[in-house]
Order: sequence, then structure tokens, then C-alpha cells
Amino acid sequence: MAEVPATGVAAVIVLAAGEGTRMRSRKSKLLHEVCGQSLLSWALDTAVAVRPERLVVTVGQFREQVEAHLDDIAPTAIRALQSEPRGTGHAVWCGLEALGEVAGEVVVTYGDVPMLSGQTLADLVAAHRDEGNTVTVLTALADDPTGYGRILRDDEGAVAAIVEHRDATAEQLSIREINAGVYVFDAAVLRAGLEQLQPSNRQNQLYLTDVIAYARSLGRRVGAQIESDAWQTRGVNDRVQLAALNQEMNRRILEGWMLKGVTVIDPSSTWIDRSVSLAEDVELWPDTCLRGATTVGEGAVIGPSTRLTDVEVGSGAQIMRSEATLAVIGEGAVVGPFSYLRPGTELGPGGKIGAFVETKAARIGAGAKVPHLTYCGDAVIGQGSNIGAGTIFANYDGAVKNTTTVGERSFIGSDSVLVAPVEIADDTFIAAGSVITRPVEAGSLAVARGVQRNIPGWVARRRTQRSGHPPESAPAGSTAETQE
Ligand code: UD1
Ligand code: CA
Repeated sequence: MAEVPATGVAAVIVLAAGEGTRMRSRKSKLLHEVCGQSLLSWALDTAVAVRPERLVVTVGQFREQVEAHLDDIAPTAIRALQSEPRGTGHAVWCGLEALGEVAGEVVVTYGDVPMLSGQTLADLVAAHRDEGNTVTVLTALADDPTGYGRILRDDEGAVAAIVEHRDATAEQLSIREINAGVYVFDAAVLRAGLEQLQPSNRQNQLYLTDVIAYARSLGRRVGAQIESDAWQTRGVNDRVQLAALNQEMNRRILEGWMLKGVTVIDPSSTWIDRSVSLAEDVELWPDTCLRGATTVGEGAVIGPSTRLTDVEVGSGAQIMRSEATLAVIGEGAVVGPFSYLRPGTELGPGGKIGAFVETKAARIGAGAKVPHLTYCGDAVIGQGSNIGAGTIFANYDGAVKNTTTVGERSFIGSDSVLVAPVEIADDTFIAAGSVITRPVEAGSLAVARGVQRNIPGWVARRRTQRSGHPPESAPAGSTAETQE
């Protein structure tokens, strides 16, 4: 296996102007995702492995969407417009036009082949150099070559031409070696070859593949590298293939983590984006989905039925049956079951967010607990405090959001409403059922609720009034009280 080449190639042209009709989508095919990354961004990650001086993306269909996405993921990539899909040869021609002067090696890849690895592309470039080729094409031996271009070899076994499935003879159709659509070209021969292309085929298109026969006609060397991992050459044309590639990519990502010491109890229901990072002895229970920039510390246990997006999980933490986005969960903290952590939640080490609790922009200190049935938005809670069941942090006055501060070691009784903005100091005690609207000083008890009154005999009197006569088996003394 060759190293990534020390000297980069002159350019990579990524073809991304096709129609993608079979996706039946309002979204460009290239923006559909495999393991949390768009098809196009997988393709660009692969392209940069051969260190191109310039990177060109041909755009056409869904141009606005594709260009907006490029602004995010590859702002320096050159965009080449192919206003009409006149074939792969025409698409590469548009790419060359955008490049202007170019000499040396030009690599061509597709935007919709997400599993092609940077290493495979680097190996292709290395073979191209070692063999002194003018064109080097990546091929694969397909069990079912239907739809692909077939590699025609001459008597010496050298690549002579590529014939498209639609244009192939019955004999050619039996060839199993297919064109993966990934090439290294000498720039001058590529340009000359494209200039003389004719749309003399069933699709009436300009085929890039015809440049192979052209190079041979000049007496130049054309080489082929056979890729044994067929997944790397598979493109996405419809959502069935998209799902298959997602599954295979995910299987490989999981396998990688398992070999690095992560326990995955049910690989078939566990999904991990490529961008996620896990430490040793992390344990993933079934139906868990880890997305984006999520990182998980050593020994943390996640799931079952949990989705984390851009979440930092400390070592030894436990998160079960919960949803969290842009949150930080401290070492040894416990979350769930049925918790909903929205952006800006920071749970300190050893803290707890329990069942049916929703948090947002909430800094919850070390060892602090929000165990049951609470809405906790725009809050700062000091370490060691306990928020009783059913507490509401009333952060919204209908116009603006305000913050509630609870100090350290404070105890908020069940069913309290903390009306923001309000500050509750350290070591306070809020009586259950209080509606707190004013600051509570350190060390104080705050009671803010109706005073309890007990009215003896009230029930019996009401029953009498309703029925018009005393209850049949009224307890002793009840009549007298009714007459009071
Ligand atoms: C092409 C190859 C075929 C190969 C197969 C591998 C040609 C003539 N055929 O066939 O030998 O086996 O790929 O997958 O090259 N595109 C444009 N502009 C166009 C046409 C296509 O940008 O005018 C882009 C598409 O977005 C796609 C790629 O080029 O990413 C391939 O195009 P597609 O039409 O799918 O080619 P195939 O018929 O699959
Ligand atoms: Ca295709």
C-alpha cells in the first residue's frame, strides 16, 4: 500500500452536475448523507488525499444548493458550471475550462461515490507514476456488472477501451471488470482527447471513457488498478443504494470502534457518524445514535434508545432513553430515562437530570440534581443543590427570556415555580409549592404559597346543602355542627 503521495496532483475534478433523477428528491443527491456527512463532502475528503493544487467541482443540476453547500464545506473549491448534462466527457471539459492552464496529473472522481477512500485514490496516483501511464483507471470485478462501463483489454492484457453497457455487444456484456469512473489523466492528453469526442453512442452524449481509446491510439500507456473492495466503487443513484451504503459505512465505523475497545451490544441498531469520537470501555446499548461532534469519555454507558448530537459526555457518565443536543455531561453524571437536553445544557460531574426533565441553556453544578418532571431553561444551579419534582423555571415573560440563579446546596421544594429573573442564594430552602418572584437571601427559608386552613365538618355540611337533608349515617355530632 502506497503512502499518500508526497507531491500532490495538479488538479482533481469532482463531477457533480448530474441530474440524480432516481433520488426523486427536491434536494440535490449530493446533499443526501451517509453517516452524517453529505455525499459531496465524502468525495471532497477523498479528493484532498492526493493533495491537489486546485480542486474543481462541476455543478449543474441543483446548482444553488450545491454551491451553498460548497460555501460551507469547501469555500476555496473552484466551481465549474455545466449548464446542460451532455455527458461525463463534457462535464470534465467544463472542469478543464474552469482551470485554464493546467499541466501534469488531473484526477477525475464522482461526487456520488462516498466510500472511495483517500488511500485508494493515492494508490491510483502512485500506480500511475510508477507505471509511467498516460491514463490510469480504477476498476472492479463486479458480480453484477449491469449498467457499468466494461473494461476491454487487448491480447497483452493492457486496457484498450471502455464500452458502456448500453453500447456493448453480447460478448462484451459478459465482461465482469467494470469502470469505477475514477481516473488519473495526463492533462494534455485529456484535453486533446476531449476535443475530439463525438456523441456517437446510444445516449448521444460525450463520453469521458472514449478518452481511453484515444490515448491508446496515440500509442500511450493506459493502466488499470483493480479495487478489491467493491463498496469503494459503488455510487448512489437511488435511496435503496443510499441506505445500503449507509449501512455498510456504519458497519465499518462500528467495527473500528469495537476494535478500539468500545462495546456495541447491538450493531444493527447503533448508528455513529464518522465525526464522533469514543474512548475505551464505552458501552453502547441498542437503538443509540451518536451524531456530529459528539465525544464520549471512558467507561460511559449510553442507551438504550438515546440520540446525542454534538454532545460531550464525561467518563463514567450514564445516559439512558434520552435526547440531547449541544450539551456537556460531566464525569459520572446520570441522565434519563426520558430526559430532553437542549443546546446549552451543562451538567456538572456527578450531577443528575432525571425522568421527564427538559433543560435549555442550563448550567447545573457538580453533584446537583434535577431528578423529576422539571422544565429548567436559562438557569444556573450551584453545586450540590436539589431541584424538587415538578419545579418550573419560568424563564419567559412573553417577551424576553430571563435567567434564574440557584446557589450552592440549596433545596427547591417540589412543585415550585421560579419566576425569572430571580436569584436564590446558597444554602436556601424553598417550601414546596412556592411561587418565587423575589430574591432569596443565603440561609433563608422562603415560603410563597397560600396558608393552609382546615375547616372541620365542611364536607358533611356541603353534602347536606346539596341533598336538602342530613346524610343517613352522619357521624355523631355532625348535625349539631351543621346547625352552627
Ligand atoms: C459512468 C461511466 C461508466 C462507469 C460508471 C461508474 C461514462 C460515459 N460512463 O456511467 O463507464 O462504469 O460511470 O459509476 O463516463 N455527470 C455530470 N455531467 C454529465 C453527466 C454525468 O456531472 O453530463 C456526473 C454525474 O453527476 C455522476 C457522474 O458524472 O456523478 C457519472 O454520471 P452517470 O450519468 O451516473 O454515469 P454512468 O452512466 O453511471
Ligand atoms: Ca452513475
